Amino acid sequence: MARKILVTSALPYANGSIHLGHLVEYIQTDIWVRFQKMRGNEVHYVCADDTHGTPIMLRAQNEGITPEQLINRVWHEHKADFDGFHVAFDHYGSTNSEETKQYAQDIYRKLRAADLIETKAVEQFYDPVKEMFLPDRFIKGECPKCHAKDQYGDNCEACGATYAPIELINPYSAVSGAQPERRSSEHYFFKLSDPRCQEFLSAWTQGTLASQATPPLQQEAANKMKEWFEAGLSNWDISRDAPYFGFEIPDAPGKFFYVWLDAPVGYMGSFKKLCDDRSEDRGSRIESPLDFDEYWNADAKTELYHFIGKDILYFHSLFWPAMLKFANLRTPTQIFAHGFLTVNNEKMSKSRGTFITAESYLKQGLNPEYLRYYYAAKLNGTMEDIDLNLEDFVARVNSDLVGKYINIASRTAGFINKRFDGQLANLMANNASARIQQEYGYFETSAKETAALVADAFDKRDFAKALRGIMTFADSANQFVDQRKPWTIAKELGKEDELQQVCTLALNMFRWLTVMLKPVLPKLAENVEFFLNIPPLAWKDASASIPANHRINEYKHLITRIDPKLIEAMVEANKQTLAPAADSHSQTRHAEAQQHAISPIAETISIDDFNKVDLRVAMIVSAEHVEGAEKLLKLTLDIGEENPRTVFAGIKSAYDPATLIGRMTVMVANLAPRKMKFGLSEGMVLAASGSQPGLFILSPDEGAQAGMRVK
Ligand code: MSP
Ligand code: ZN
Repeated sequence: MARKILVTSALPYANGSIHLGHLVEYIQTDIWVRFQKMRGNEVHYVCADDTHGTPIMLRAQNEGITPEQLINRVWHEHKADFDGFHVAFDHYGSTNSEETKQYAQDIYRKLRAADLIETKAVEQFYDPVKEMFLPDRFIKGECPKCHAKDQYGDNCEACGATYAPIELINPYSAVSGAQPERRSSEHYFFKLSDPRCQEFLSAWTQGTLASQATPPLQQEAANKMKEWFEAGLSNWDISRDAPYFGFEIPDAPGKFFYVWLDAPVGYMGSFKKLCDDRSEDRGSRIESPLDFDEYWNADAKTELYHFIGKDILYFHSLFWPAMLKFANLRTPTQIFAHGFLTVNNEKMSKSRGTFITAESYLKQGLNPEYLRYYYAAKLNGTMEDIDLNLEDFVARVNSDLVGKYINIASRTAGFINKRFDGQLANLMANNASARIQQEYGYFETSAKETAALVADAFDKRDFAKALRGIMTFADSANQFVDQRKPWTIAKELGKEDELQQVCTLALNMFRWLTVMLKPVLPKLAENVEFFLNIPPLAWKDASASIPANHRINEYKHLITRIDPKLIEAMVEANKQTLAPAADSHSQTRHAEAQQHAISPIAETISIDDFNKVDLRVAMIVSAEHVEGAEKLLKLTLDIGEENPRTVFAGIKSAYDPATLIGRMTVMVANLAPRKMKFGLSEGMVLAASGSQPGLFILSPDEGAQAGMRVK
């Protein structure tokens, strides 16, 4: 009986492009889904963009657009990337949907009714200029351990220390630069420490509930869970204060669901959209209706699988099942976690050009199925990291796909086309030789065995094993062609039948291989179906033969070798010049910027851009220490205006205030005033600094007068 299966991949954040790391997951899921569909199971594959949270809100602000405009644009970019790699979702939605909102609020209400929600005051850093609470990654400062500057709120990239944001020395807001204040506000918590949650989750994660037919987690993941349990579960903070791009919490004005509360609910929202589409499109489509409840009710008999990266295991195997359980919904059948992608055995890197976007791969004209094949050859269903070795990638694809698989057709199809007008032989007919019948029998049995082994491996997500089985069969098919040498038979008189029979058997083997490769290479399989002139292949075709005397279409080149030059060009195109760390939200980029002694020259600007900055010669009227500030000096600057300006400058480490009084320097006079903890700063003095310690303010040449414009 056909299984009814709902499959998801993690919802990619809408604040970045899809890269080859992401694709490990989406390609893996797509292969599995395609395999299950070929087996005749009823499978639904849904995903969506994960659209909420502070980074997306701030990014939209920076771009001068609304968050809705931003996520709409990114949705189209993501969708195009997935289409480009043949990742075939049945529905690709957005968490910013009415459906997801309804389910999120509904789940929340049920948790509250079950007395699993509580509120508690939480003290956090607050940006007084931006008027918002700051997530850890938007607070920077000096590392309390090694004193590296400009480190993020939770860990130091220079020395690797981890700490709480409050431990940072001289913290500042990465959004406005202001000194953050500590403020308290009321937060909503999901009471995971409640004995009911503890008891449920410890049983659920280990797969010991009566309702669980299979353990929900891989062994390594289950072990991780045990560690987490031993460390104890604390209540989960599920609220964020306005301003926040997300869903409001019912009956809690100004409070929003933390993005991770509604993100997995997006699985349900996206599936609901699919159900609704199905019922609306009934007239024009053949699909049967889909019943949402059949997949989400507490007593659902259908299967639910989440493919995720190992970094988000905590959310999927603790928070999510607990939310579902206590909202009286079904829990996942299994969670399939995978490892992280490295490129040439190193973390993907923007400076080395190995942080490769999906779009740049496609733009190079590289065949997406090559990457699908390579990933499949590496994936084994565990949480181990997988490496994309670019040299090995070229070698592997060229040798397996071109040298082995396609080779079988390219060496035999031409004879059928030219000599037999496209017609295959009847291998079971009287004129078929005993030898070919025997060979056919042998290979048919071998194909059956291979298909069984390969199906089992696909089902267990050991794609590497599946491909090894497939390639072993391809090797024996090639040996058959090598032995029988159709190119020699073709030259001998009176051997027409033998030529047609040998080529027919080879093409049958090619077809069996195509069936087994189809989950990995769907587009190529489609082209093969056209060439062989056969209906779409299903798994049951993996050892059945092409009907006798069938006529095939003309053989045309199916794939080409990878040109290593394309790979080089792709890596080159992904090399990013590193902007100074100032506004960088990307941790990788930030870490790399630190390794450069001299930061690269910024983007070219026009003279008009430059003229927007009003630089003035300023006389330092007074300079003093600021009580409680570790970095700042308070300067009073005369630029020829009625009242001198007050400027807080981060130059305390380099200058004794007494030596500054009476000096001339240069300031930015038209910078928006900034409210700081110690007062209003009405401009900025210019100073030079590099990766070495030291800070140097500017001085004009002798004779310059306060107030003169610098241009
Ligand atoms: N938005 C969350 C998921 C919410 S699911 C309810 C998120 N998004 S993500 O864009 O950062 O990542 C999406 C998926 O891609 C995750 O499963 C993540 O593990 C995976 N990968 C992201 N980078 C990856 C690699 N470099 N390698 C392998 N998988 C990676 O997490
Ligand atoms: Zn440090």
